[in-house]
Amino acid sequence: MTKPVSSVSVTAGDESVSLPIIKGTMGPDVIDIHALSSALGLLNYDPGFVGTASCESKITFIDGEKSLLLYRGYPIEELAERATFTEVAYLLLNEELPNVEQYRHFSQLLKKQSLLHEQIRNFFNGFRRDAHPMAILCGTVGALSAFYHEAVDISNEASRMLSAIRLIAKIPTIAAWAYKYTQGETFMYPRSEYSYSENLLYMMFATPMEPYVMNPVVARAIDRILILHADHEQNASTSTVRLAGSTGANPFACISAGIAALWGPAHGGANEAVLKMLDSIGRKENIPAFIEKVKDKNSGIRLMGFGHRVYKNFDPRAKIMQNACHDVLNELGITHEPLLELAMELEKIALEDPYFIERKLYPNVDFYSGIIFRALGIPSSMFTPLFAVARATGWISQWKEMIEGTQRINRPRQLYTGASLRHFTPISTRD
Ligand code: CMC
Repeated sequence: MTKPVSSVSVTAGDESVSLPIIKGTMGPDVIDIHALSSALGLLNYDPGFVGTASCESKITFIDGEKSLLLYRGYPIEELAERATFTEVAYLLLNEELPNVEQYRHFSQLLKKQSLLHEQIRNFFNGFRRDAHPMAILCGTVGALSAFYHEAVDISNEASRMLSAIRLIAKIPTIAAWAYKYTQGETFMYPRSEYSYSENLLYMMFATPMEPYVMNPVVARAIDRILILHADHEQNASTSTVRLAGSTGANPFACISAGIAALWGPAHGGANEAVLKMLDSIGRKENIPAFIEKVKDKNSGIRLMGFGHRVYKNFDPRAKIMQNACHDVLNELGITHEPLLELAMELEKIALEDPYFIERKLYPNVDFYSGIIFRALGIPSSMFTPLFAVARATGWISQWKEMIEGTQRINRPRQLYTGASLRHFTPISTRD
């Protein structure tokens, strides 16, 4: 833990306590509030964790005012433009970018581990054919803990790294098979000549009937999207993984908890929800009426793909995603994409509306990702599973960092507002 740079004094009644202020490398200073409870018997109340730094981390940094996102210090724009997803996965896990030999070795390990135990095939048959692929992903990644339980020793560094590599390598296979299962199609096995993203496409779309023709534009776009989603500091799903992991639970079970948290429409499920929203709006003429509904708090409707807890300016990933969207459509020779035009008009109208301006609501990563996924031929039910494939790298890096640090079990307290102490009465005497 970094040394305190100053302190703040808190007084409650006759008692005072000095709370240390700690400086990170970048970002706001934090107050270490441990002594609030031990010295003053007070708890910190912060529903939704709006002002809580839950841990110390060296992995990802966000400055929401400046639209800055760094993985291990590298700007997301540079990584999305120049790195491969495999390089980024190595960076998140190992703190540094790989050299040529490290990259070759890491890529080989991922390829070797990308196959699933044959018995895992049987799990898929237990799901209904119309199950959402996120349900299958959540269940099957959790089931990896049944295959790698005794084998995982979280106190051993090599075992932790092997678990991380297994997860990153196997999750594309599970996600692709989840899709194939819902389509009633043959599972396709990963091939060693393909890159990480190429394999994802191959396993989702190839069939045993004919050779698969890889489209490099689509594969590069998928790789870039995976990079954009790889990690994002202490978001809801990452915090879930850390919380589950803090109990010492099996890492695959912890990742399954993270997948569940990601699925919600306020988090990773937003990319699928954006497409549903655009489909329901249908035409540009319908946008003003839709915006009015969003602004009416009684409607329960939100502008999906807008707003973020940390970004109070543009989400840098949304900007890259929007540019990538245009590039991909150009490269694929798609000159007219009504959905993109609708989204751009919706964005323009929202950004000029005082409701969104006052609340600092800007497009987030999910606003454009669904459109690009659709242009790439990815079915909408797979948008969130692909987010999970990418984020698995961040989750497991954060899990490793937590286990390798001095983290205690994560155990929040509460503000209790229920009944005071009372005593049981037999049912016959109750009104
Ligand atoms: N549409 C309409 N109003 C909104 C929206 C939105 N998308 N987002 C926030 N607001 C309003 C909200 O009603 C509130 O207004 P008021 O102050 O009048 O009560 C104010 O803005 C603050 O919102 P909040 O819900 O307190 O903010 P939060 O930080 O708790 O929630 C959020 C962040 C991302 C859950 C929220 O902005 C949201 O629901 N957005 C839509 C879903 C979405 O796109 N999620 C993806 C997030 S980015 C990728 C990821 O995390 O996976």
